[in-house]
Amino acid sequence: LDNGLARTPPMGWLAWERFRCNVDCVDDPYNCISERLFMQMADRLSEDGWKELGYNYINIDDCWMSMDRDEQGNLYANKTRFPNGIKKLADYVHSKGLKLGIYLDFGTHTCGGYPGSIKYLQKDAETIAGWGIDMLKMDGCYANVSDMSWGYPDMEMYMNKTGRPILFSCSWPAYAGGIKVDYSVLGKHCNAWRNYDDIQDSWDSVTHIIDWFGDNQDVLAPAAGPGHWNDPDMVNYTAIGDHCNMWRNYGDIQDSWDSVTNIIDWYGNNQDILVPAAAPGQWNDPDMVGGGGGDGRDCMDLLTKMFSFISLIVGDYSLSYEESKAQMAMWAILAAPLFMSNDLRSISPEARTILMNKEVIRISQDSLGMQGRRVIKGTNKVETWVRQVQTKETYAVAFLNRREDGMPYNHTTTLGSLNFTSTMGYEVVDVYTNHRYGHFGLDTKLTGDNKIETWVRPIERQDTYAVAFLNRRSD
Ligand code: GLA
Repeated sequence: LDNGLARTPPMGWLAWERFRCNVDCVDDPYNCISERLFMQMADRLSEDGWKELGYNYINIDDCWMSMDRDEQGNLYANKTRFPNGIKKLADYVHSKGLKLGIYLDFGTHTCGGYPGSIKYLQKDAETIAGWGIDMLKMDGCYANVSDMSWGYPDMEMYMNKTGRPILFSCSWPAYAGGIKVDYSVLGKHCNAWRNYDDIQDSWDSVTHIIDWFGDNQDVLAPAAGPGHWNDPDMVNYTAIGDHCNMWRNYGDIQDSWDSVTNIIDWYGNNQDILVPAAAPGQWNDPDMVGGGGGDGRDCMDLLTKMFSFISLIVGDYSLSYEESKAQMAMWAILAAPLFMSNDLRSISPEARTILMNKEVIRISQDSLGMQGRRVIKGTNKVETWVRQVQTKETYAVAFLNRREDGMPYNHTTTLGSLNFTSTMGYEVVDVYTNHRYGHFGLDTKLTGDNKIETWVRPIERQDTYAVAFLNRRSD
């Protein structure tokens, strides 16, 4: 969307993954969705060094509204939890040098059951613009997927008409099955079809599949009956990129490494469609970054995953330190929006360091705006991902270790085998430790052992590349 916004992947903080739909301000005032929570997070963003690094949006997600519209049909915030209203909150956020994002749903209701916007697109666009909102995440629960191809563009037009620049984050593809799926053809030729990855012998795999079916039910359910096969001829990334600054393609991220790798796999598998869709002003959104590196407590995983409306009372504790580094690195390679969903009031120093890593942020925010690709999928379960950065001669590379066996593992490669071509060779630097590995010719062996997580970034000379060894081992 060419509205002058999001020329690099937007950065900030978004309430959902960490605070969910916790509306219990009586028993849990510190964590409930309320103006106090957003003011406290705004304080942290502006006072703890986040803003200076680019984390400048603070986003309200679902469950902020009153259950009904007012007599004129206007939306308004829950009066107990937001006693001063959203405009005051926006003023506060702006006074801190930050921007405020809000959440609406295109359908009849939000995913949490609050009022939807389908009959009120223009009114709601005017309302949020009047409040001084800077970003809108528009979800797609309780809507017909086929309506989204006019609905999201209409919303963009109405926001444009208000004259206020509002970054538009769309969930449209996430509801439309993520990629172009022509169920009319499928339905003509098959009695049944697999929609998703192989099931594995784990509860996590089962719940992923259930989640995926739930998240895509608006597409899948109508496809399952005669006369309803032709629903989703609808993910047209040119149209989406014309009307949205960023868009969710896939299911919600959860606080687990499994969820992170599931998303990474999906991005790799669909990169031919996704990569060309990303550019300045228009970004694929693989969902939030947690920061992990918590205090080692386990999350209440089964309960919280199965009932996502329960607040995650333990928080972002699921990813290990190394996994957190890897998620951050991969989101940078994917040119993904960097929205944290964590508790900035008590975040661990380790997680802070990861999320504040200037070199990784530099890769993420590279002005070319090219999304990286998985160039080698399989060798010994170590993937190689490459993103072009800065100049046409410069690349960021990640080696992503997907092994789960219990043995230390060295990964050795050469830059030549990764199709790097400069006969001058490359300087190799780890962006997490700043360790300089020195000069590598095309045939020099590069080895990452299981104790290092290495990124190599461009240094001062032309024709340098960034390479990362990313240790993803759980042993
Ligand atoms: C959907 C979205 C989430 C979040 C919730 C809110 O699940 O994908 O990111 O906004 O709705 O209810």
